[in-house]
Amino acid sequence: MNVLNTRLLDDVRQAAAILKRGGIVAFATETVFGLGADATNEVALRRLFEAKGRPSDNPLIVHIAEVGNWHSVASSMPVVAEELLNRFAPGPLTVVLPKHPSISLAVTAGLETVGLRIPNHEQARQLLALAGVPIAAPSANRSGLPSGTTWQTVLEDLDGRVDAILRGNTCDIGIESTVVDCTHDKPRLLRPGAISFADLQAVAPEIIGYSPNITQDPTVNSPGLLHPHYRPHASVQIVASASEADQLMKFGRKSVSDLERHLANCAYCGLEESKLASYLGSHRHFKDLAEYAQSFYEFMRSVDRLGIEHLYCQRPPKDGLGAALADRLTRAAAK
Ligand code: TXA
Ligand code: MG
Repeated sequence: MNVLNTRLLDDVRQAAAILKRGGIVAFATETVFGLGADATNEVALRRLFEAKGRPSDNPLIVHIAEVGNWHSVASSMPVVAEELLNRFAPGPLTVVLPKHPSISLAVTAGLETVGLRIPNHEQARQLLALAGVPIAAPSANRSGLPSGTTWQTVLEDLDGRVDAILRGNTCDIGIESTVVDCTHDKPRLLRPGAISFADLQAVAPEIIGYSPNITQDPTVNSPGLLHPHYRPHASVQIVASASEADQLMKFGRKSVSDLERHLANCAYCGLEESKLASYLGSHRHFKDLAEYAQSFYEFMRSVDRLGIEHLYCQRPPKDGLGAALADRLTRAAAK
């Protein structure tokens, strides 16, 4: 384990040099920050799992700069995966493919399949191109916590545990990529993301949808789905509306001072504004769904930094990005 402090870098070339030497570097992508290591280097990968505190049965996504280089990651390209990549790469899409022999089984948690992603983020693509090797990168957070979407949060989680953080802009999308398994007869959505089910269906009408019960299906092999995810320290409760949150926060309080004390220990976020906003420990009212998704993880982090114990989040609309955000909210709220 690295006992030195983590270096903060702005130079992509320095970051690429560290990756090439088998180091671990966090970097921004359009979804969330990734924690990168050479996907062909067992030693680097072991350090990466250790740095995150990640269970070794949870496979990593491999990132490359150009779709054309897929041969270095996968042994074949199913037609449906090619069609999806033609439409959505570079972008917030991960396709699961048959694994290339050079990709370590440590990356895939022993599976013969591998997740491939080409990020749509200038700095990330420069880094991947300069590194010249496929880069395995899970989200850059301690396992189980919300993903990091700012370099400051990544530093808070991983200082001293990783070699460097390449400072980048905050992540535009804010939640992780859409994952589609393309290794069976029909493609299957394993994780909803900014590329929605309807977007995927337009390219692959036969695609099987995502269900929260997916982990009980023995034909689905995505162990990562079994682990707790995205949970802040605060308890999270999902509400239909701001007024429902207001009612719950007021419920059972015996006196004005008791109520005031409790509200200071509560936070709320959503598309509607809470009428109690000025009494709350923290609150955010997002202008639209894109801003909600972009800011959600960082808001949970800020609530934890303030030591607030109760977080109420308004359920987003069901479609498109809302489905992906609702999935993360549900996991954050899981007991
Ligand atoms: O947006 C993203 O995907 C970010 C950025 C950094 O690219 N990465 C990310 O990685 O979210 P991670 O490790 O936090 O999530 C990877 C997900 C897990 O749910 C894992 O189970 C699934 O992808 N996965 C990876 N390889 C797989 C495979 N071979 N088969 C099935 N699922 C796989
Ligand atoms: Mg993750």
